[in-house]
Amino acid sequence: MLRLTDIRLFYGPIQALKRVTLEVAAGEIVTLIGANGAGKSSTLKAVSGMHATSGGSITFCGERIDNLPPHELVSRGISHCPEGRRIFGDLSVRENLLMGGYLLPKAEIPAQLDHVLAIFPRLGERIGQAGGTLSGGEQQMLAIARALMCKPALLMLDEPSLGLAPIMVEKIFETILDLKQSGLTVLLVEQNASAALEISDRGYVLEVGCVTLTGNSAELRSDSRIVQAYLGG
Ligand SMILES: Nc1ncnc2c1ncn2[C@@H]1O[C@H](COP(=O)(O)OP(=O)(O)OP(=O)(O)O)[C@@H](O)[C@H]1O
Ligand SMILES: [Mg+2]
Repeated sequence: MLRLTDIRLFYGPIQALKRVTLEVAAGEIVTLIGANGAGKSSTLKAVSGMHATSGGSITFCGERIDNLPPHELVSRGISHCPEGRRIFGDLSVRENLLMGGYLLPKAEIPAQLDHVLAIFPRLGERIGQAGGTLSGGEQQMLAIARALMCKPALLMLDEPSLGLAPIMVEKIFETILDLKQSGLTVLLVEQNASAALEISDRGYVLEVGCVTLTGNSAELRSDSRIVQAYLGG
């Protein structure tokens, strides 16, 4: 479904991605793990068009998509839930969700709103509340729900469990699994490598802008290099 080949990406003189090659098949959950600064967020930004690439290619459903504008990527079915949630604090839960669905035909919006509120009933209870007054866990739910409003085929989640209490982390990971079961494809970036590899099918390890290891999640979980570097072994 998604294929990155030798992707290079720069921030001014700084090269964040040197040679990133990876693929995600339809229906999979694929996890990207790596230390701070390895290039995980940059990889997602390259796919969602939030940052231009300087080499290599990205295809989605067989078509070249690198360096298309973000709204074009959203309308093709790619949704990016960025690091740090980025919800609109002054806007209500409802308004935040409507922003996520801005490219949907008007007639489809009410049903999609009902659909995401069924996934996150807590948000329904707080529909008129300002986003900024939600708890951290609720804000993360809102960020994911907003990313789902555009009916994506591929959902990219950047550190969804960051800063959340264990019970909320569990809830978020359960929700990601439910989304997969409903047919969504997920590219997941996580510091919590252990939990992420438990729910994902395959994983890639990024080190300073390069993919250095890949395998199915069970293999990665038992690989001594991964255990030592990322699973606290
Ligand atoms: N806006 C920017 N301007 C300059 N350099 C940047 C920018 N964003 C990221 N970088 C650099 O690019 C490299 C990769 O950053 P990236 O955010 O992709 O890492 P990451 O793997 O997501 O790290 P983390 O786990 O800390 O979120 C880092 O060296 C970072 O300093
Ligand atoms: Mg990051």
